[in-house]
Amino acid sequence: IKRIGVFTSGGDAPGMNAAIRAVVRTGIYYQKEVFGIMRGYEGMIEGDIVKLGARSVGNIIQRGGTILKTARSKEFRTKEGRLKAYNNLKKEGIDALVAIGGDGSFTGLHYLTEEFGIPAVCIPGTIDNDLTGTDYTIGYDTATNTAVEAIDKIRDTALSHNRLFFIEVMGRNSGYIAVNSGIAGGAAAIIIPEETMSFENLMTLLTAGEGSSKKSNLIVVAEGSKIGGATELAKKVAERSDYFDIKVTVLGHLQRGGSPTYFDRVLASKLGVAAVEGILKGQTDVMVGIRNSKIVYNSFDSIINHVHEIDQESLRIAKILSI
Ligand code: F6P
Repeated sequence: IKRIGVFTSGGDAPGMNAAIRAVVRTGIYYQKEVFGIMRGYEGMIEGDIVKLGARSVGNIIQRGGTILKTARSKEFRTKEGRLKAYNNLKKEGIDALVAIGGDGSFTGLHYLTEEFGIPAVCIPGTIDNDLTGTDYTIGYDTATNTAVEAIDKIRDTALSHNRLFFIEVMGRNSGYIAVNSGIAGGAAAIIIPEETMSFENLMTLLTAGEGSSKKSNLIVVAEGSKIGGATELAKKVAERSDYFDIKVTVLGHLQRGGSPTYFDRVLASKLGVAAVEGILKGQTDVMVGIRNSKIVYNSFDSIINHVHEIDQESLRIAKILSI
């Protein structure tokens, strides 16, 4: 292997820059050339590829977003699109790839290795923490801290006005951000896709508060909730009871930005080094991860269509503490 291509794909996540930096510098450390592919698979199809040096990834470890930009490419889902992409890689002499992204990125990479035999490793980068095969994905810690900060701020105003807040956090079909920001933010209830609290259970919980004249409360809702998002739930509760002064805050994309935490920077650095070292040792069509503090390389089949189970202990803790 002489030339490694690196790119970010799918939703951005804080810490992706730290991962790019680690891949570039590890490649150079092992005397390889490293190229950045812009805008994920879109840039690969268009041949938007730039050479990166150790200095060109200086001063980015602390920055949110991704200097390589990112996209979700429809064309890459077609065989023709992938052929165009592969021809561009060949033209640049790129003979190995490192992708930083979520399950969509890993799926794209899998097809590319299958069809053209190009060695490739995926680094899990998504705020959702929805990939099995790694305890944490890059960006999840920062996003959860951002959510907690927001919840703390909402708590101040909720208490002052005796208001009930429904706060919606991201996570796609996963409840990781919700559970852990809910525990850390002291939420009265946490509603996640993995565990369906029924709407009636929620009403019981809230009206128990009514008995004790508790009007102010914070409910954290994962966007993937099966009983409705924050807006819908707030509406349904208001239809059933006029006891509460209800407000809704959807945290949205602010959870995707910001300077990565120390945890995400270190995680990204470790995974970046392991991705390149893995490729140089013959790993391919795998996602690198860290489980129980150990680097692991997971096959495509062990990751895609598998759910990163929510931590049962966190759920238990959340229940005990929300009485
Ligand atoms: O996968 C990351 C994520 O932020 C999810 O939590 C969310 O559902 C989705 O991406 C939003 O996607 P977009 O940025 O395309 O609106």
